[in-house]
Formats: sequence, C-alpha cells, structure tokens
Amino acid sequence: MRLFVAVPVPDPAREQILKLLSQLRSAGWPVRWVHDEGLHMTLKFFGEVGGERLDVIAEALRFAAGDAGALALHLGELGAFPSRSRPRILWVGVIAPPALELLQDRIERGCEAIGFPPEGAPFQPHITLGRVREGQRLPPGGLDDHATAFDRVPFVGSELVLYESVLTTSGPRYESRLTLDFGR
Ligand code: 2AM
Repeated sequence: MRLFVAVPVPDPAREQILKLLSQLRSAGWPVRWVHDEGLHMTLKFFGEVGGERLDVIAEALRFAAGDAGALALHLGELGAFPSRSRPRILWVGVIAPPALELLQDRIERGCEAIGFPPEGAPFQPHITLGRVREGQRLPPGGLDDHATAFDRVPFVGSELVLYESVLTTSGPRYESRLTLDFGR
C-alpha cells in the first residue's frame, strides 16, 4: 500500500480552499485537481509499504506526535513547485509556528529509524490543489490573478492521519488507516 502521513485541513479553512478550488477549476487550466475530500498537509511520504509494517509505523508516529499539542495554523499564499513562474504542483501554503517543524522533524527521524529515509527536500508546509498535466503549461501570470482571491483563514492542526493513497481511474483517493489526536 502507498502511505503518507498528513494533517487534515478542518473547516472553515477547508471550505475556503474548496471555494478557491472551484474558482480555479473553472479557469480551464490543464491541471488535474485534487478531489474535494481529503485536503491535507503532508508531513511524511512513505511510498509503497507492505501492510505488515503498519504497526511499526503507527508506533513511530505515536511516539513522534506524543505530546505535540494543538498547532495554531493559517492558510498562506497560493504557490507552486518548483516555482510560481514554472508551476507544476499548485498549492496553498500553510503558515505555522515552529512547533510544526519540530513535529515534522520528530516524525522524519522516527521514520528514518524504522527504515524510511528522508526525502531530502526541506519541509515546506502546503496543501496541494492540483498538478499541471505533463507537457502542458499554465497561462503566464495565471496564478497571480488568483493569489489574493481568498482569505488566510486560521485553523487548528490537532490530528495526524496515516492515509493510504488508492489509485482509481479518476486519480488517487485517500483513505484513512489511522488517526492520532495530538491536540491537547
Ligand atoms: P504534495 O502535496 O507535494 O503533492 C500523496 O501523494 C501525498 O504525499 C501528497 O500530498 C504528496 O505531496 C505527498 N508526497 C510527498 N512526497 C511524495 C512523492 N515522492 N510522491 C508522491 N507523493 C508525495
């Protein structure tokens, strides 16, 4: 199974992103948009993992998240990887206190200890909205036109969810395999 661990985005931030997504979808860009369900901020991507490893992953996550405490987050800018001028992956950034980076680092190190090496790229908290189709481009400045079209809604991160990414003909669907509440 293909696994990753993420903080789900609760309302009203989720509603704000859904509004933005419906505006963006109507722009007619060559983008595969994410489904409305399962909007999340990824902390660690595991890739393909044998089901027998679920328990040890759950244990590492429990240990890493243990006493983290709820995180006061808010939505940031509309952005893109690798850059806004060459957008491939479109996202909304997440503005977070240093505690989020600490939590992500604890998860990274805990998972490294059980055989999942870090991906390398520095952690940049974001909620992916869509991926530009292979070989296609957005109109120049397209992202800029929408960058300020939404409110920087605050939200609380208090759960870690271990998701399984299930491939379907309409793109990946994210199914929750484990939920850990770290917000006290
Ligand atoms: P993204 O938000 O930057 O696209 C499921 O694919 C989730 O895992 C997505 O949120 C995705 O990040 C994240 N992820 C991180 N590294 C990945 C990788 N190497 N391949 C696929 N997804 C990855």
